[in-house]
Amino acid sequence: MITTLDDISLKYHNTFGLDVATRQWIEYTELADLPALMTMVKGQRWMAIGEGSNLLFARDYDGALLHSRILTMSMATRQDGFVELTAGSGLLLDDVVDYTARNGFWGLENLALIPGQIGAAAVQNVGAYGAEIKDVIERVKVYDTVAGEFKTFGVDELGYGYRQSMFKLPENRGRYIVVEVTLRLSTTPAPRLDYGGLRQRIGDSVPTPLLLASTVATIRREKLPPVGEVGSAGSFFKNPVVDRSVLSHVEAQSSGVKVPHYELPDGSVKIPAAWLIEQTGWKGKRMGEAAVWHLQPLILVNPEMKAKPSEVLALQEAIQKSVFERFGIQLEREAEIVD
Ligand code: EPU
Repeated sequence: MITTLDDISLKYHNTFGLDVATRQWIEYTELADLPALMTMVKGQRWMAIGEGSNLLFARDYDGALLHSRILTMSMATRQDGFVELTAGSGLLLDDVVDYTARNGFWGLENLALIPGQIGAAAVQNVGAYGAEIKDVIERVKVYDTVAGEFKTFGVDELGYGYRQSMFKLPENRGRYIVVEVTLRLSTTPAPRLDYGGLRQRIGDSVPTPLLLASTVATIRREKLPPVGEVGSAGSFFKNPVVDRSVLSHVEAQSSGVKVPHYELPDGSVKIPAAWLIEQTGWKGKRMGEAAVWHLQPLILVNPEMKAKPSEVLALQEAIQKSVFERFGIQLEREAEIVD
């Protein structure tokens, strides 16, 4: 079923809470709706969006926003001890995390409380607490709007990297609409505890998917702005991956303060953007109606849900300028601008 609304505010369709409008908002519930949808949007600007939890609308959207409400779910057991869960793209990732954790399936528990739909999570390769959704993706079914047909891509065809997939490549923008995501989950224990103090929090308890998911959720609630109360798009910037020589430069600029970093297999290093931003004094600062979250400076917030897109963008630029001038690192946005 296809439902269309004209000229609506997107305030409740983007977690930043920006009060921009769209000319059309179109929801669909079935795979079979896709060809008709394409006929409806022919000749106009369109884009598929989930919960708008990683987007920043720079202005009103002069076109049609397509929003999946495909909420199907099915499971199959495999010979190798794994189960396969196929989720409609409109399901919330956190609902799928909760369902699988409650049923004792391993794989999604570290991704608890990440906002957004599972279809969007497969596009963005969301990650947290040492896990990325690509680790459990088996295949993704899409509607190819250019060929006008459904296609299924195996995980190896999806070009996954840090917050990256082939869906995000410039040549594929707007080509594929994710309709179903199939995950491969384990029935035997497979806890990942190495990141962000998880092991200490779990202590001597026997880890279960549900215990891990609730522990991750607790840690996230301590640091991240509450979705729905304080507007944000999660991490606004990516953690920069730089050459060793850049790390030496950052160390030289830090007058003896130890610079946190993670060595990557190819010899480069990842420096937490949160740390760089904190060093430049931006943590907790406010500029107009936009602010830097006081507990995690990687997150730009709309504290009273009154910010204009231009205020968030001005804050972004001011932070990028400070970090670049001090450390010579150009922070890249993680959140996507819709201009
Ligand atoms: N840090 C500071 N000051 C702070 C907070 C953090 O200096 O106030 C430094 C610390 O050195 C800390 C490091 O930043 O060890 C990393 O912080 P944290 O573990 O909180 O994670 P992050 O790198 O800031 C990433 C993801 C988050 C994900 C967390 C947890 C990105 C861009 N962000 O953040 O993802 O939840 O790890 O795994 O990779 C998102 O993508 O929207 C998101 C929230």
